[in-house]
Parts: sequence; structure tokens; C-alpha cells
Amino acid sequence: MTDRRDLICGNWKMHSNHLEAIQMIQKLHYRLEPDTYERVEVVVAPPFTSLRSAQTVIETDRMQIGLGAQDVFWEDEGAYTGEVSAPMLAKLSVKYVIVGHSERRQHFGETDEMVQKKIRAVLRHEMTPIVCVGETLDQREEGRATDVVVTQLRGALSGLDAEQVGGLAIAYEPVWAIGTGRNATPDDAGEMCEVIRNEISELAGSDAAESVRILYGGSVNPGNIKAMMAKRHIDGALVGGASLDPDTFAAVVRYWI
Ligand code: PGA
Repeated sequence: MTDRRDLICGNWKMHSNHLEAIQMIQKLHYRLEPDTYERVEVVVAPPFTSLRSAQTVIETDRMQIGLGAQDVFWEDEGAYTGEVSAPMLAKLSVKYVIVGHSERRQHFGETDEMVQKKIRAVLRHEMTPIVCVGETLDQREEGRATDVVVTQLRGALSGLDAEQVGGLAIAYEPVWAIGTGRNATPDDAGEMCEVIRNEISELAGSDAAESVRILYGGSVNPGNIKAMMAKRHIDGALVGGASLDPDTFAAVVRYWI
């Protein structure tokens, strides 16, 4: 047994305006019994436009729900029209930043090098990156899943020291499982998370590997979360579709019930 604390993060993607976000967070809060937080760190990552409202409702009602952002730019400020920086997020009490999600890699051309710069920006401002890695269906069918994931991991983590690596959360999200209703089997997910932990041990040492949290993401729902969480190397989940309905997300978060 380790003392890694479970982390379950709802990634709302491009859903909800700020008024809806307030309601979703309030509903989630009412559905999570106080003992939830003894077992799980609960995070929601709404769109940028909802962060300020989310922060206000969480702080006003003294909720234990943590705030996450879905992306960040690597420079702190400057002429980068449309971008949002790490210090801007930190000022909104954002604790976690999703970096390198496959939708960003696919639709916005994010490379491992860009992911690495974003991770550094997040760490500079004392937030925790949730670094996403994962193979496509073609890559899996060609037997390259492990290679792809390890390459993404090495690219993303290069230049970080052991302590920084140990503080990260890594999300293993096979691209073919995202939003498809077709989750990886708990065995396959558990195995890849073990590969990730072993690779982190190689890159940054055994202490970092012991403390880094590894999440599974891809069609997580109340029916499959328990089997995922039973795997030794899975410390939590990154949840898309099932995080949009507070009842469903609460059932995912309280997976042991
Ligand atoms: P999904 O998304 O749960 O809807 O498959 C997961 C993610 O993209 O983080």
C-alpha cells in the first residue's frame, strides 16, 4: 500500500456557461458526503470562462472541491492573443491544470515539446499539471501503444527534477476510449499505468515513481470506475462525459459505495 491520495478530476471540456457551472458545482457539492474527501481529492475543470464563478462559489461555501483548468499557455504574459497564462490561473485558485490532452494534440497541433513547456509554466506557479498521454487505435493495433506512451512521457518530462516529477499527476487516456463509450479493460489500463510508473522510476528514481499519481481516462462511468480503482497502479480518473451530470459524477467519485 502507498499513501498516494486518489484524485478524480472532471474534465468538462467545452461545456457549460458560467451560470450552469455554478449550478453543477453546487449540485455536486450536495451529493458528496463529507467523508468523500478523506478518500478522494475531487477536482472539476470547467472552461476558462467559468473559472472565476467556480472559484467564487467554492470559496464562499467553503467547499472542498478543487479547481482545475483544461489548458494553459507557457509564457507568463505578452502578445499572445487568445491565450491564458499560468499566473492568471493561479490567481483564480486553480490547483490543477490538464496539459497535453489528446484533443489538444489532435485539433491544435500540440507537440511533446509544447506539453513540456506548459508543464514547466504550471509548476513555476505552484499548481499541479495533469499530464495526458495515450495511444490512438491505429497505434495500438500496430502494437506500438507502449512505445507511443513512453515517448510522450519522456518528451513531456524531460528536464524536470525528481521532486517535480513526483508531484505530477499523469493521465493515461487511450485516444480510442475517449468519448466513445468503449473503455480500456481494467487489466489493460492497469498494465499501461504500471509501464508508466516503471518509466518514471527510470527517468526520475523510485521515490518519484512511488509518489506520482497515475490516473486512467476514457469512458469512465459509475459502472467501470470501481474495477479501475482496484488496480494497484491506478490512483484516480480523468472523467469527461460522466462528469457533466452531478449525480453521475458523484457516483463515479464515491466509487466504493
Ligand atoms: P470521456 O473523456 O470520459 O468522455 O471519455 C475523458 C477525457 O477526455 O478526459
